[in-house]
Amino acid sequence: PEARPRVWVSQPLFGDIIAGLDEHFEVDDTREVTAWSPAQVARKLADADGALVTLNERVGAAEIADAPRLRAVANVGVGYDNLDVAALRARDIVATNTPDVLTETTADMGFALLMAAARRITEGERWLRDGRWTQWSFDTLLGHDVHSTTLGILGMGRIGQGIARRGALGFGMRVLYHNRSRLPDRIERNSRAAWVDLDTLLRAADHLVLVLPYSAATRHLIDAAALAKMKPTATLTNIARGGLVDEDALADALSAGRLAAAALDVFEGEPAVNPRLLALRNVVLTPHVGSASLATRRAMATLAVDNLVAALGRGPRAGDPPT
Ligand code: DGY
Repeated sequence: PEARPRVWVSQPLFGDIIAGLDEHFEVDDTREVTAWSPAQVARKLADADGALVTLNERVGAAEIADAPRLRAVANVGVGYDNLDVAALRARDIVATNTPDVLTETTADMGFALLMAAARRITEGERWLRDGRWTQWSFDTLLGHDVHSTTLGILGMGRIGQGIARRGALGFGMRVLYHNRSRLPDRIERNSRAAWVDLDTLLRAADHLVLVLPYSAATRHLIDAAALAKMKPTATLTNIARGGLVDEDALADALSAGRLAAAALDVFEGEPAVNPRLLALRNVVLTPHVGSASLATRRAMATLAVDNLVAALGRGPRAGDPPT
């Protein structure tokens, strides 16, 4: 009988969902959260036909150089800057990601972080737990309003549009966005958002949210010069990728009072966090959990499994009518 294709699953996902692969493949799964080195990734891919990977695993030319059978890499996540798509394409290896299923959950988190930064929520909690609340006072932890202010969105894909809707419909915000290309009228209308150039966005936003893909072209897009254009009362929220922001420049702006607060779910050297950010009180820090609701993580794992099965020719392709 024909040997079954082999697939590698790089991190523990949900056992019952990953079990769906057993029907089609020999599965080399991972039971404990593991920090795979590039050499270990290469070894795992060496005899695999497919792989299910996360943002932790970089899959580029070096990792696939000795993987002659590899035909598909399914990323569990919408961002795929961990994949060298050009290198994969050059070898005819299919790459997939998990858009849509995480849009609303991640937009929720973006808004939660924005509000936490503006209203100093985590700072207030630390202050209270430290036993510093001795009496109610009029000027304790004064923050900045969210309602009726200007929301700036940098990167207007699905998640950006979800944040725009929350801001406009739920909080009466004026919504401006910047994107490489202006979106069709219909999407602008649905999102209640108006396109502006980057400079205008930086200067006008009371709350700026980053939701754009990371690449060499967007690395440190928010640098000292960009931060200098922002209002000193503004907040910056990043739920995309840490490398979009020059973290030292951000720490400078926050400590000098040139920016009110920041909320960061992503970091350039994850899981390491710039110690200067850790030392600041006006930064909300979360460990890359934008899409981390139980239902959404299950949906992401399910979609990634379906993508891998389809890419290896074992099931209906995404979008095919059910039979
Ligand atoms: C994504 O989907 O890109 C998130 O960052 C988690 O992987």
